[in-house]
Amino acid sequence: MKRIGVLTSGGDAPGMNAAIRAVVRTGLSQGWEVMGIRNGYSGLCNNNMAAMGARDVSGIIQHGGTALGSARCHEFLTEEGRRKALHNLEERAVEALVIIGGNGSQTGAHALSQMGFPVVGVASTIDNDLYGSEITIGVDTALDVALVAIDQLKVTASSHHRAFIVEVMGRDCGYLALVTGITGGAEYIVIPEFEIDAEDVVNAIRLAYERGKAHALIIVAEGARYNARGLENYFAKHHADTGFDLRITTLGHVQRGGTPGAFDRLLATRLGAAATEYIAQGKFGVLAGLTRGQITPTPLAEVVTGEKPLDLNLLRLSEVLNTQ
Ligand code: F6P
Repeated sequence: MKRIGVLTSGGDAPGMNAAIRAVVRTGLSQGWEVMGIRNGYSGLCNNNMAAMGARDVSGIIQHGGTALGSARCHEFLTEEGRRKALHNLEERAVEALVIIGGNGSQTGAHALSQMGFPVVGVASTIDNDLYGSEITIGVDTALDVALVAIDQLKVTASSHHRAFIVEVMGRDCGYLALVTGITGGAEYIVIPEFEIDAEDVVNAIRLAYERGKAHALIIVAEGARYNARGLENYFAKHHADTGFDLRITTLGHVQRGGTPGAFDRLLATRLGAAATEYIAQGKFGVLAGLTRGQITPTPLAEVVTGEKPLDLNLLRLSEVLNTQ
């Protein structure tokens, strides 16, 4: 092995830079050249890559986002696009790839692997919905960003005796909403995995008002049927009167742009280094993830088909705590 490549793909996540840094420096320590591929799979299709030295990754560990850029690349979804990518890799003599990203990115990694190219994935997405890693790069920081916003909203909500619907990210997975709701002290949490009756939300908020609470907080995942817009429409349509005045805040991409905390920097460093070591060991077609505190390889074939269920006990716990 003389030359490997690294790319970040899909939604950026705080800690991706720490992972890039670990891949580059662990690769250099093996005596390899490390190519940084720009803008995810689109850089592979467009042959946009350059060698990275140890100093190229200086001063990036503390920054959110990804120094390599990321993209959601439609061309790579086609057989032709993937063939173009493989051709470019061959032309640049890149012998193996580290792919840092979430579900879509690891599906792309699996496709390359099935075409015979040596790849290793690194588990990174703020959604925490990737099979093969109990927690992924960026989740911890995204939760902290959401909590800062929620703590501040609670201040103004209390002053005005208002209820706030706060929408957090999570297209298909309610992990961010669930944990933000519990740790932010929400009165109600709405996640895609659990069907609710919107009238229950209205009742929960009304009861909170009647119990003398100064404010009420409803955390919803963007992918839930009753996300911020869905619930707002329901409240309006049914002239829901809870006692509280209602306001809506959508946190959106703010959660992705945080400064990575110690947890994400360490996780990303360990996963990036492990992925590079798997390449040195000839262990390809796997995802480097965290299982019970240990860094473990999981076959990409399992990653792309496996499901990672939410612990719905947390939802029940939240209900117990917030109906008092
Ligand atoms: O997968 C991470 C994520 O942030 C999701 O929570 C969200 O639904 C999606 O990416 C947003 O994607 P984009 O940045 O392409 O709008």
